Amino acid sequence: MTEEDRHAAAPRTPGRTPAQLRGAREADYPTVAAAIQAWWTQPGLDTPAAARERAALVPRLWLQHFAATSTIAERDGRLVGFLIAFLSQDRGDEGYIHFVGVAPDERGGGIGRQLYERFFATVRAAGRRWVRCVTSPTNTLSIAFHEAMGFAIERSGGELAKPDYDGPGVPRVAFVRDCA
Ligand SMILES: CC(C)(COP(=O)(O)OP(=O)(O)OC[C@H]1O[C@@H](n2cnc3c(N)ncnc32)[C@H](O)[C@@H]1OP(=O)(O)O)[C@@H](O)C(=O)NCCC(=O)NCCS
Repeated sequence: MTEEDRHAAAPRTPGRTPAQLRGAREADYPTVAAAIQAWWTQPGLDTPAAARERAALVPRLWLQHFAATSTIAERDGRLVGFLIAFLSQDRGDEGYIHFVGVAPDERGGGIGRQLYERFFATVRAAGRRWVRCVTSPTNTLSIAFHEAMGFAIERSGGELAKPDYDGPGVPRVAFVRDCA
């Protein structure tokens, strides 16, 4: 059994081909960029301005320089999920998840969990222990997902989010997970 087989996500619908996970490549960038524009269908995130803001978060360099620690999920050759992540250069015991997305019609089927668990395995294989990531305090879906994935919130005083984390007026919820 290959690593990809072991990470095959269970089909949500009986008879459906399981999603396959594999390492990312720079050639995946156009498809990932199109998904970043199209997949965020929640009200407020489905505007052209929000799509541009997301696109700016994931320029091509992420798949030029961090592809080896990033993952693509496909079903029948179609992109159904992706995870952009890296082993920290400066923090020798940490990995960091920068961005994740699962196709709207594939959510709730375990692909997000499979993508994260593959990266946790990468972090462990590199002899590292911690995984960190951040999200917006308004993204309640993301907060629930990260809690389900075993992340703890690094609170600021009693507050859920750290104020001004990504600049003036830009708070972030900071997550950490022990992968030991
Ligand atoms: C967040 C996202 C990646 C989750 O992917 P997914 O494939 O739907 O997640 P999974 O089906 O693997 O679920 C993993 C766990 O998270 C939980 N979860 C997923 N979506 C959830 C939601 N909307 N509310 C509460 N819990 C949720 C599941 O219950 C599951 O826990 P369990 O395995 O203990 O039952 C996906 O919903 C997505 O792409 N959302 C839009 C993009 C986005 O907001 N990204 C920001 C994340 S930083």
